[in-house]
Amino acid sequence: MLPKSKHASPQYCAVYGKPIKHSASPAMHNPAIAKLGLNWQYIAEEVPPEELGKAIEKAKAARYIGLNLTVPHKILALDMVDILDDSAKKWGAVNTICFETKDENNVWTPLGQITDLTQGELRAKGYNTDADGITLALQKDLGLKLKELKVLLLGAGGAGRVAALKLAEEKVSELYLANRTTSKAEEVANEINNRYPGTSVYVGYPENSPCKMDLVLNSTSLGLEENDPLPIDETKFNLANSKSVFDMVYNPAETKLLAKAKAAGCSTSNGLGMLLWQGVKALEIWSGQTAPVEVMRNALTNYIYGNE
Ligand code: ATR
Repeated sequence: MLPKSKHASPQYCAVYGKPIKHSASPAMHNPAIAKLGLNWQYIAEEVPPEELGKAIEKAKAARYIGLNLTVPHKILALDMVDILDDSAKKWGAVNTICFETKDENNVWTPLGQITDLTQGELRAKGYNTDADGITLALQKDLGLKLKELKVLLLGAGGAGRVAALKLAEEKVSELYLANRTTSKAEEVANEINNRYPGTSVYVGYPENSPCKMDLVLNSTSLGLEENDPLPIDETKFNLANSKSVFDMVYNPAETKLLAKAKAAGCSTSNGLGMLLWQGVKALEIWSGQTAPVEVMRNALTNYIYGNE
């Protein structure tokens, strides 16, 4: 383990977004930071998009450890950091910034891994941990091995696009993309055909019936509101024909889709794990240490479902 910071006052991490009031990130990160014995504090700051550049510079000048970015900043930030990690280039969005300085060997190193902070040159490096968050949640929380899976993905918005591309990168064998707006599903399918030709991608529901799926994944926002319709058209696909169902929505903990899937015998998981695993990855980038996953999971669960 790294020696504790020599600084009496804490160093900061922050999540920037607008709105930010309900962010679970401070509740998830602070107990983990304490567990690692780091003298850091993770705060939430409301930053409107037109002030994002200035806010990133402010954090850098104040020698913050790092930032998380949420709606509506993830794409904007691509042009506001000094260097992009491959993950941010690949997924076209930044959700994590790590501030780095040069160590005694002149190697760029995260500020969170430097104990003797000098006043040296700083740079902001942009990462994307959201895509890993999706696959880690599927692998660790639902126990899936993604290679060769047959997947029906509902939705082709921002989250759906990244999920589709990441699943193709993980070499799922067949991917069906069903979205209200077909043209968006077609765009994602074209992107997969260009970038990951090993995955067979189809727009719409599987037509040969009954078609067995390993996974149905909801990436639409349907399920967030009590009166939302199901995100799946059950006349086109029967949930009993899927082994597992993952819903990116995590509040409520059991959406109507997950309740139906459970009743149909599928193994199920909501999207809390995506939030957890993207946070785990961010903390590991900043600290260079293995994040205490269970501490983070418990803190997140208490924060989000604690009063239910
Ligand atoms: P995010 O970044 O969270 O993915 P988004 O890009 O706005 O948000 O995508 C929202 C997804 O939910 C899209 O797939 C959207 O379908 P359209 O592409 O047709 O808009 C889907 N969605 C939202 N409201 C919907 C509704 N009432 N019925 C069906 N799909 C809906």
